[in-house]
Amino acid sequence: MKNVTSTNIPHHVAIILDGNGRWAKRLGQPRSYGHYMGGRNLFRIAKACQKIGIQKLTVYAFSTENWKRPKDEIEYLMSKPVELYQENKERIQEIDYKVTFAGRKDRIPKNLLDVMAEIEEKTKQNQGFELTICADYGAYDEIITAVNQLEKPITKEMIEEKLMVKEPVDLLIRTSGEQRLSNFLLWQVSYAEFYFAKVHWPAFNERQLQKAMKAYQKRHRRFGGIK
Ligand code: IPE
Ligand code: IPE
Ligand code: MG
Repeated sequence: MKNVTSTNIPHHVAIILDGNGRWAKRLGQPRSYGHYMGGRNLFRIAKACQKIGIQKLTVYAFSTENWKRPKDEIEYLMSKPVELYQENKERIQEIDYKVTFAGRKDRIPKNLLDVMAEIEEKTKQNQGFELTICADYGAYDEIITAVNQLEKPITKEMIEEKLMVKEPVDLLIRTSGEQRLSNFLLWQVSYAEFYFAKVHWPAFNERQLQKAMKAYQKRHRRFGGIK
């Protein structure tokens, strides 16, 4: 791949998939069209990450705060994936990596939870690359849930063992120009490199991913030490 060296590839990349609505609005389309195209883009970018040699991609698809959105938007986000899955069921075999989900399981509609479980089940034998989709995920919820399962004295390792996303993030990308975490992976990004892309998520392509990788490869990570 042009100018992206094959050494110093981040092990774990996390992406805040932001800007679906604004992208659609610019095209004079409803927000739902942005979510649809954003969803398609997720599988394109996952494939590109796998090709580059990234081991793990964790994406923020729906936050614990996103329930505040209008009813029709939530309804679309909860039902469209089910519909698309039913229509394309046989294509699940094309996915040659593991897909897992992180987040609360007590508020997502049952039919979507079933689809999520089915996707996990059908891809669990795949080796190597893993895509984790965070849905009804919030880092406050994740940390509180973890801590409540533990008895004092609590250690860092004990907390990490109970988190929904267990590995530290090397590179965090947020699309759409916003420079905030919005309650995503607060614990796991402690030593991550941050990269903010101006483009909206549906327009974030392989070239944008390459740019983020090149930026990452120029960074000097010190983890509190001296280089
Ligand atoms: C990200 O795009 C997807 C979700 C949060 C579900 P947005 O829906 O936040 O799009 P903008 O930020 O309003 O443009
Ligand atoms: C963060 O985006 C959540 C996801 C991308 C799923 P938001 O669009 O919800 O974040 P804010 O409201 O701009 O902080
Ligand atoms: Mg947004």
